[in-house]
This record gives sequence, structure tokens and C-alpha cells, in this order.
Amino acid sequence: MNFQKYILPHIWNLKPYSSARDEFKGNEGVFLDANENPFGSGTDKNWNRYPDPLQNEIKNKLAKIKNISSNQLFLGNGSDEAIDLLIRMTCKSGVHNMIICPPTYGMYEVSGNINDIEIRRVQLTTEYQLDLNTIFKSIDSNTRLIFICSPNNPTGNKINRKDIENILNEFKTGFVLIDEAYIDFSDEPSFIEELINFPNLIVLQTLSKSYGLASLRLGMAFAHPEIIGILNKIKPPYNISGATQEQVLLALNNLHFVKNSITEINIQKNKLISDLKDLGQVEKIIPSHANFILIKFHMAKELFEYLISEKVITRNRSNVALCENSIRITIGTEEENDILVTKIKKFYS
Ligand SMILES: Cc1ncc(COP(=O)(O)O)c(C=O)c1O
Repeated sequence: MNFQKYILPHIWNLKPYSSARDEFKGNEGVFLDANENPFGSGTDKNWNRYPDPLQNEIKNKLAKIKNISSNQLFLGNGSDEAIDLLIRMTCKSGVHNMIICPPTYGMYEVSGNINDIEIRRVQLTTEYQLDLNTIFKSIDSNTRLIFICSPNNPTGNKINRKDIENILNEFKTGFVLIDEAYIDFSDEPSFIEELINFPNLIVLQTLSKSYGLASLRLGMAFAHPEIIGILNKIKPPYNISGATQEQVLLALNNLHFVKNSITEINIQKNKLISDLKDLGQVEKIIPSHANFILIKFHMAKELFEYLISEKVITRNRSNVALCENSIRITIGTEEENDILVTKIKKFYS
């Protein structure tokens, strides 16, 4: 794939900012190059020095965990930052377009709108799968990005692998972005292992879900090293804070936590589904490969508001196409889920 053809020329040719820590990489010396405060931070931890702009230590660890090479990995301030940068890298307002498949994660559309890019919406089928025919009809020579979320938010189902492969095979004038924010809760293998076969593939993952690090803001994009190079060129110089880098390094030493969380969340998910079915008020539960379930209830709006009044906060998705009368519920601890079920029981009694 000739990447240059699908990257905006001003981005391809950009001379990136060179930060102090890009220019001198050693740890020892008298540091008088970055206009930092030499006295520390006024906290018991010294945050006065700028962090590694390319987060090499974290990347080396993540590369081992994900079985890729570290030059196939970009780190963003949440995957939301990667989504925005990928749009800015490829799409020019008034010229290019991107395809999204609603109902899906809302930031694709918001980021597209912020960048004033034409968005082509191809709704999922009633089975919450890709409408391949309409996707292919919507592609033209100015389509630069196709967003696919699998497992999908807010429906929780996984998207048929063959359909995704079909798009990867056919769409050659831009990139297919597969957002795998919830992949760790699924039995489906990640598309990361397909990077070798598809240069037009970009996979997004995040530490905000199974790793339990939402507050630290660390998203990952996996792609061909040339694409990663461009992302590194256009990101803000120190996009991952020193505090985040330090805490993520610690967390990556405790992968048992991640594994146990996934196991426990999936156990609790099955229990919650069975408890909710027992209530007899559920019209439909979409099989979930994520850490949430989308449920169609009788009187969903009233139930959602009742739950809020009882201090149980869920997400009302009733106004979203294909999600009528549906509430999205994140899987909590057993105790939290029991509180939810008790309140729902009370509402219908
Ligand atoms: C599908 C999907 N992608 C990305 C994100 C954002 O992840 P991050 O916290 O890394 O910005 C979310 C957050 O809920 C999500 O549902």
C-alpha cells in the first residue's frame, strides 16, 4: 500500500516539533534545556520534569503483552485522541468522507464533526451486523476511513469476522479502523494479529476497560509502522503525562488483576442476565461480548428515571436507532448488580 496517497500532503510533509526530550534522551546531567522548575513540584513526588514523549518503556511492555513490535504501537490520551488524530491525518474538510455504522460509539461522529468531515452513516442491520451492500455502495474515491466497533458499543455484540475481512480486502483507498475497546471480554481473537495481512488496518484498544485505568487516559492504536510514525509526528509533544506513564508501568506488572477482572465480570454478566430474565419484564437482551449489556425493557424510560431517583445510574439508549426502549447497563460487582436487580423488581411490582 502506498500510504502517501491516503495521508493528507501537509501531514505527510510536516516537519514535527522537536521537544527538549526528543533532542536529548539521557537521564543523567544538569538539565537546563526544557524551562522546567529545578526545585520540584510542591508535592511529595517530583513532577517537575517533562515525561518521555514517545513512552518507550510502556510501549516495550505493551508490545510484549500484545505480541507485536513496539513500532506498530501508538499511545494516545485515551483512544479518543487516536480517533481524532487519525481523522486529521487522512481527511480534508469538504473533500473526504468517513463511514460509521450506527448505533455505535458516539465519538467517531463527534470527532468527524469537529474536523468538519462528511460522515456517511450506514446503519447496522436489525441483527446489529454490518450492512455490507450499503457500505460498499457508500464508498467512493474520497472515502478515507471506515469505523467498525467490535464488540460494538452500545449493543455489546461482536461483528462477524468474515464481514470485517471482506471490507479489509475490498477497501483499498483508505483505512479500516477496528475499535476493540471491549475485546478482552470476548472470545473473539483481536484483529491485531491480522496487521501483517492488511496494511490498511488500524486497530484501537484502550486501558480504560479491562485494565481498570480509565482515569489515567491511555489508548492504543496498532498499525503499520509508517502510520505509527505519522501519528507520532502529529501528536502533541507530551501527550501521555508522567503520572500516567508511571502508574501504567506499575499496572502492567499486575496482569493477574486484568485476567481476574475479565473472568469475574463475565461471571457477573451471566448472573445478571439470568436474574433479569427471571423478572419477566425484559423484552430482549443482546448477547454481549463486552462488560455491559443492552436490554430492551417494558417502560424503559420510566425505569431509567426511577433507577436514577434510587441512585442507580445506568445509560438510557432509547433514543438511539435500533435501541428503542433499551437501557445499557455496565456490569458491576455482585453487590452492585444485586442492588440493581432489587430496584428493578421494586419498579415493576
Ligand atoms: C468503543 C469505544 N471506543 C473508545 C472508547 C474511549 O476509550 P478511551 O477511554 O481510551 O478514550 C470508548 C469509551 O467508552 C468506547 O466505548
